[in-house]
Amino acid sequence: MGQAFETWGNPSSSHAHGRQANEIIEKIRRLIAQVTGVSPLEIVFTSGGSEANTLALMGSFFLKKPGLRLLTTTVEHSSVRDTASLLESQGVSVDYLQVKRSGVFDLDAFERQVTEFRPTLVSVMAANNETGVLFPLKEISRICREKGITLHTDAVQAFGKISPEEWNFCDLISITAHKIFGPKGVGALIVRRGTPLVATHYGGAQEVKRRGGTENVLGILGFGGAASELPTREEIENIRVLRDSFEKGLLETLSGVGLNGADVTRIPNTSSIRFEGISSEVLLGALDLEGISVSAGSACSSGSISPSHVLLAMGLNKQEAKECLRFSWGKTTTREDIDTVLRAVVKHVTRIRDRKRKA
Ligand SMILES: Cc1ncc(COP(=O)(O)O)c(C=O)c1O
Repeated sequence: MGQAFETWGNPSSSHAHGRQANEIIEKIRRLIAQVTGVSPLEIVFTSGGSEANTLALMGSFFLKKPGLRLLTTTVEHSSVRDTASLLESQGVSVDYLQVKRSGVFDLDAFERQVTEFRPTLVSVMAANNETGVLFPLKEISRICREKGITLHTDAVQAFGKISPEEWNFCDLISITAHKIFGPKGVGALIVRRGTPLVATHYGGAQEVKRRGGTENVLGILGFGGAASELPTREEIENIRVLRDSFEKGLLETLSGVGLNGADVTRIPNTSSIRFEGISSEVLLGALDLEGISVSAGSACSSGSISPSHVLLAMGLNKQEAKECLRFSWGKTTTREDIDTVLRAVVKHVTRIRDRKRKA
């Protein structure tokens, strides 16, 4: 990214400094296209996953086509949920698909709902950000294709953790740099060839008129750096092994502990755990004091004390949802890290429960 500080030209300018900045962007565009298995022309750089999701939904709404009808799920990221609510307030018909208790996507219900509701756009995430549960995008895509429905997927959590072949066939795809160890504030919407979309940002012809505004050259360079160092298959498998051993260790050592999304196919880096009788805020604070950063719900919504909509949609009640923590592992996680976190969690859960018992 340091290179971008020296490349001060505006990528839209035709002088040498501008061309230099533009070359950087185009180089990274080719790289992101290569690692996601799409064409460079299909990449629209954005300020991150939230903007990509908003662009996908709003950009479909602004099309001069017969009314948008949106089908999405009850466990999407708030950027999809809030945009769907806004569209609903503007008269768009929106319907929500319920997930099964363990967070599993209900394909039969989806097929029924598609037939009855007749959406023009389906927005379904590839992997859930709170539980890591994967959705069956290949089957979802087959149903959408048969009925001529545009399919958007929020692949923010899936990118870099499962093969792009599991999601790159969708028509609109959101990704973000900070989920692959890149900088915050940069991402992309992949708009597959032939997918109609109207821009939601105006002011210039950047990104082939699909996203006006001077590009974030610095961020895009960082995005490229991260994309060139995506975890290898072995590294991903290593994360899965470590994550599984953490969950196993926890379930074997402590009683009253439950794994959200147990026995369901998940991305390899996420553990969503319920500690019965313990407020997630209290346990989060205790772990924070030990230098261990975990989240209650998703990081994006952990500033609020309301229980996670994802866990509620999975059938947990409000009390149960407020007893859950999310642990996220990565390619830098070591066996020692797992042991340290496991010891700390067991210590604090035992201490908090003892204190409650004596009170
Ligand atoms: C599934 C999912 N979608 C979208 C986003 C938003 O991405 P960004 O923070 O880049 O706006 C997040 C954020 O973590 C996420 O987990």
